[in-house]
Amino acid sequence: MSITIKSAEDIEGMRLACRLASEVLDYIAPHIKPGITTKEIDRLGAECMAQQGTISATVGYQPPGYPPYPASLCTSVNHVVCHGIPNDKPLKKGDIVNVDVTVITKDGWYGDNSRMYLIGECSIAAKRLSALTFDAMWHGIVQVKPGAHLGDIGHAIQKFAESQGFSIVREFCGHGIGQKFHEEPQVLHYGRPGTLEKLQPGMVFTIEPMINAGRREVKEHGNDGWTIVTKDHSLSAQWEHTVLVTETGYEVMTLSAGSPPLPAFVTATKT
Ligand code: MF3
Ligand code: CO
Ligand code: CO
Repeated sequence: MSITIKSAEDIEGMRLACRLASEVLDYIAPHIKPGITTKEIDRLGAECMAQQGTISATVGYQPPGYPPYPASLCTSVNHVVCHGIPNDKPLKKGDIVNVDVTVITKDGWYGDNSRMYLIGECSIAAKRLSALTFDAMWHGIVQVKPGAHLGDIGHAIQKFAESQGFSIVREFCGHGIGQKFHEEPQVLHYGRPGTLEKLQPGMVFTIEPMINAGRREVKEHGNDGWTIVTKDHSLSAQWEHTVLVTETGYEVMTLSAGSPPLPAFVTATKT
């Protein structure tokens, strides 16, 4: 298999899926405050998808070697790096949580995105990690244009994150996406400029760096088969967009009314 190139019609399908995925995050945003459980966030996400007429890509998702994923979205709190399973524990002031939503539209297109939410007043360290992880994702996005290489994206993210004293998780990466959840290519969040696949118009993939305040190593947590945590228990953050390579640059597809403002160094969501 190789990287799929999306047609104009495919891109219309992806635009819808991606906007709806972003609108799920908008829908839950006002509810995320101290006292809410991650199960309740999951219920709200499922409710929004039902209203949209989309379905969750994660319910029952079962890559080789994994148990079926049991929820409509992922909620990764504090030192959880990714794939946290919603549970009954209320979030408390000072927690940070990543909510990762992937929807499938009626036409079979997937849109995948995640955001960080701060629960009440958080430590300066937590706010900084979340904000700089957002900037790191955008440092990757602005590399996207025909002729650039996947290694340019990884390098930009790594250089920025490490310059701030943070570390990049290596075990998980972004991915091509379309009528499948995870397609080629793998989009590493570290690397060297000019290496790996050359980007072409019509490629669509996610950029979703996981960045740790401490060391980069991760481990599986307990026995649910999914939850990944930092080995040193340091805080971890992640943001994710689905991005199209256009004739002239990039188009961020997972946008909606509630998308956060762009970092100062970014001029546009589409170039
Ligand atoms: N949405 C995640 C990603 O960005 C994948 C979650 S798979 C799950 O690729 F099964 F854990 F939900
Ligand atoms: Co993804
Ligand atoms: Co995701």
